[in-house]
Amino acid sequence: MERLQNKVVLVTGAARGIGRACAVRAAEEGADMVLLDAPGTLPTVGYELGTGDQLDDTAELCRKHGVAALTLFADVRSSAAVRAAVDQAADRFGRIDVLINNAGIGASAGKAAHEMTEEEWQILLDVNLSGSWRMLQAVVPLMLALQGGSIVNVASTAGLVGYRHFAGYVASKHGLIGLTKSAALDYGPFSVRVNALCPGPVRDDPRMDGGLGGVVANSLGISLDEQDAVDLESVALKTLVNPADIADAAVWLAGDESRKVTGTVIAVDAGFTAK
Ligand SMILES: NC(=O)c1ccc[n+]([C@@H]2O[C@H](COP(=O)([O-])OP(=O)(O)OC[C@H]3O[C@@H](n4cnc5c(N)ncnc54)[C@H](O)[C@@H]3O)[C@@H](O)[C@H]2O)c1
Repeated sequence: MERLQNKVVLVTGAARGIGRACAVRAAEEGADMVLLDAPGTLPTVGYELGTGDQLDDTAELCRKHGVAALTLFADVRSSAAVRAAVDQAADRFGRIDVLINNAGIGASAGKAAHEMTEEEWQILLDVNLSGSWRMLQAVVPLMLALQGGSIVNVASTAGLVGYRHFAGYVASKHGLIGLTKSAALDYGPFSVRVNALCPGPVRDDPRMDGGLGGVVANSLGISLDEQDAVDLESVALKTLVNPADIADAAVWLAGDESRKVTGTVIAVDAGFTAK
């Protein structure tokens, strides 16, 4: 039996990278999919977000597993856009069982905390932290109506430890872990679970079109190969984390095998935070 059969899973930031990996893996487990992204550019973020074509590619990869896939555009910085997208998903499927809050940005970085502009700081918090809260706000009423659901917040090892010259990103991800724990207490009595995943630095996978590793390396003024070498040295398992590793953990948290797990923070980081 597929682990997410008869469930509807909404993934934000589904156009590429970790979001695409989570979406395709959930589809493989039989879930109908709602795939949300916001193509374009964001102020202060010096790289392109996922495109509409990439989102369509994710949907096609999901449909290959025989499930339905609805694509939606919504910027998680906008409550109105988020609400409209969730309403469309509810109209189509009548329910949302799982929310994978994955949309996030990794820029700006490469500056000491006091050197960031207010706009750079605000946008990191607005997308990575407030965006996840806005999604939760829109989806939770549907889960309460079902008396069940699972929210998976994709945080980062930057939610557990500091990284030099990444203060805004680190603050946003620490905040997301705080949201995870409090929301787990709020919704536990209604069987709605809320957990966080903390990927370590994830190797860009060409099949997933992800590029955040390259962006991070660039902001530190080194090549992706140099970045990978540094990451490899710093992890216990001496192997880099792939988007598929995060997707496997997300599917476990999404499904009933983790039914007694809420308010937890799971690092999928090859042992980076073990020391
Ligand atoms: N790649 C890593 O090394 C790594 C490590 C730890 C945590 N993470 C986290 O994993 C998540 C996914 O990262 P990724 O590496 O796949 O990045 P990515 O840039 O490849 O994908 C992120 C997706 O989110 C979307 N997005 C960004 N801002 C949005 C907004 N305002 N509204 C809607 N969608 C938006 C983008 O369009 C993109 O498709 C992020 O939350 C990131 O912080 C990544």
